[in-house]
Amino acid sequence: MRDIKIFRELQGEATDWRRYLHANPELDFQEYNTARFVAEKLSSFGINHVETGIAGTGVVGLIQGEGGDGPTIALRADMDALPIVETSNKPWASKTSGIMHACGHDGHTAMLLGAAKHLARSRNFKGSVALIFQPAEEPAFPTGAYKMVQEGIMERFGISQVFGMHIAPGIEVGRFGIRQGSIMGSQDDFDIVVRGRGGHAADPSRTIDPVVIAAQIILGLQTLVSRKTDPLESLVISVTKLNAAQAYNIIPDQVEIGGTVRTSASSHRDFAEREISASAQAIARGFGADIEFKYLRSVPATINSIEETNLAICAARSLVGAESVDEKVKISMGAEDFAYMLEARPGAYIFLGNGPTAECHSPAFDFDDEALPYGIGYWVQLVETVLGFGTDAGVN
Ligand code: NI
Repeated sequence: MRDIKIFRELQGEATDWRRYLHANPELDFQEYNTARFVAEKLSSFGINHVETGIAGTGVVGLIQGEGGDGPTIALRADMDALPIVETSNKPWASKTSGIMHACGHDGHTAMLLGAAKHLARSRNFKGSVALIFQPAEEPAFPTGAYKMVQEGIMERFGISQVFGMHIAPGIEVGRFGIRQGSIMGSQDDFDIVVRGRGGHAADPSRTIDPVVIAAQIILGLQTLVSRKTDPLESLVISVTKLNAAQAYNIIPDQVEIGGTVRTSASSHRDFAEREISASAQAIARGFGADIEFKYLRSVPATINSIEETNLAICAARSLVGAESVDEKVKISMGAEDFAYMLEARPGAYIFLGNGPTAECHSPAFDFDDEALPYGIGYWVQLVETVLGFGTDAGVN
């Protein structure tokens, strides 16, 4: 087992970077200052090959090992913040009102920079490591990872495997969680417009009331999961938007319903699209109304491949011991756009404990800087596990 102390040496510096990024958050595809900060740091570590401006504000740095030829693996961090007013009251709280790092991407960026500094010094691996700093993990389609893959980073840098990491409130600092197969859900959104016939609220028999029909449709959607889905499978359908008349005395012509679908496998997305439409259509027809239905596919499920998951487990274990690595962590139904990179290449995504903090996307959230050396250490161990050479490579 490797001593975490080696990586604690980088903690002070990484904490400064993390808090600087936290105080200066930028929204998706606007990470100009963050990207500049990242590129400058990479160059200062002696990394000569740094490409900027990928997918707008994305940065990729390439470190060649000194162990000769070998594959290129990618380590990925995300850089964007969220449109939330911060309430953490920390000295390094956001200086930009209404924008904050509420999902730990400041910490992800700082950890990958820490690993970059270590790896640029040691270079005790074969092949190369591509450090991907991506924009825009948070928005709906098209996201930063999608665009970087579209712009050909996998081919251009010759990447054969991809690895991601996310901070996880509720898991102790210094512990890791991972699982084979689906680890994060897919995200799709849907819109239903119920078209009836409006009129005076005092005279409903002369209308086809879309408000009552919308209410039936919403209740009907509740049975798609409870009555039509295998209880051992993961599917969430939530109605989140509802838009009807703006007055007490008007029955509107139409009502708009919107919601989100989260699943652990692409087959469930087909099911959700088909069944939501059929159920809403049938209910509306029963009342003499009609619907318009739109299903918007966004991020796919994040699916860890077997071999790379085992490599990730091996790396995490060699850092913190087997007892601190949960190999069967519960699947999270949140969506993660690293899924697009995992569609392009095999790889694995791991959770790193952030301790008992506020949840991600909460205005009180903050990254725990005690987690920094574990994240840095994991990246370094992973590189040495996958690309290690010689007798003391990998677990040392
Ligand atoms: Ni996130």
